[in-house]
Amino acid sequence: MKVYLDNAATTAMDDRVIEAMLPFMKNHYGNPSSVHSHGREVRTAIERSRKKVAELLNASPSEIFFTSGGTEADNTALVCGIETHGIKHAITSPIEHHAVLHTLEVCAQKGNIQLHLLDVNEKGEIDISQLEELLKTYPNALVSLMQANNEIGNLNDLNQIGQLAQAHGAFFHSDTVQTMGHYVHDLKSLPIDALVAGGHKFHGPKGSGFLYVRKDKKIHPFIHGGAQERNMRGGTENVIGIIGIAKALEIAYEDMSGHEAHIKALKKHFIESIKASVPGVEFNGMSGDIDQSLYTVLNVSLPPSEANAGMLLFNLDLAGISASGGSACSSGATVGSHVLRALNHNPERDSVRFSFSRFNTIEEIDYTVEKLKELYAVEV
Ligand SMILES: Cc1ncc(COP(=O)(O)O)c(C=O)c1O
Repeated sequence: MKVYLDNAATTAMDDRVIEAMLPFMKNHYGNPSSVHSHGREVRTAIERSRKKVAELLNASPSEIFFTSGGTEADNTALVCGIETHGIKHAITSPIEHHAVLHTLEVCAQKGNIQLHLLDVNEKGEIDISQLEELLKTYPNALVSLMQANNEIGNLNDLNQIGQLAQAHGAFFHSDTVQTMGHYVHDLKSLPIDALVAGGHKFHGPKGSGFLYVRKDKKIHPFIHGGAQERNMRGGTENVIGIIGIAKALEIAYEDMSGHEAHIKALKKHFIESIKASVPGVEFNGMSGDIDQSLYTVLNVSLPPSEANAGMLLFNLDLAGISASGGSACSSGATVGSHVLRALNHNPERDSVRFSFSRFNTIEEIDYTVEKLKELYAVEV
């Protein structure tokens, strides 16, 4: 049996997305910047996709910019947000994705900003009062806090953070790569200045993404060149990617609560069966709390075991199960997970992130837990 439980890394494309993209590979190949009919029909399709994304997020099409993915969108929001608005202080957390952390570190190394990292507890939770203190000390800062952590599934309350940021004149960016297409985003009511998406996390194509920037917080472009994306991103558009990401988001919104219910049931079943099968199992971050974590992610911390030490992912792979992880240690070939290190996770315990999608089944979960039970049976 082959089981794919690495959906936070990337997802399988939905057939309907592929079908929507195909005509733009075969027939509609014009350059959208060309003024002839071949170009115009493609331009129209791009603008239709932009309108669709904007409608789903309750935003204006002029606030949506297509990018090559979440990383580029994060880089654009952070680097250009700081530069455009003359920001001198940035506040983030040590468990952000590297697309945010490394970008802000480079800005700090260049002397453009001073970087402030919030503390996280052993569950990976930030302290909102520490954020408030920093915002009082450094008004007009940039705040970058992800909606959901890609490794441990912790959720941040964007409303609460956004209101605080707004009250202190801060520019609020959130890395929403793991939540876009999985939760509703109503950008008319959410106090947020910039958020991002990567199409391949919700059954769209890789290399597709978008950035939302609130109208009254406009930023300069990150990539200079032609006038594409209303002068915000030079370069001939990834037309098939744009068609694909808009279609994928449309499908995600069609039955979001149905997908959520299905995936939550899988996660709940996983938690219950592994607890019954592997003594000493724990869950990293908040991921074991079904109502307080991203429903697509479960980060399992397994008791120290000689047979599996450093080999767990490999052993799972041999059994046909694809998941991802990384220990907290920084020795050997793998540099480990900066997120688990920030949580002071015991490096003796192996951790695996299982992440689910609407394409997974209960049989796949049963098979995976059964394999984990076998792998750990020798020592219990
Ligand atoms: C939280 C988070 N931010 C950013 C990214 C990068 O997105 P992309 O692969 O679309 O560049 C990822 C993907 O792993 C992610 O999980």
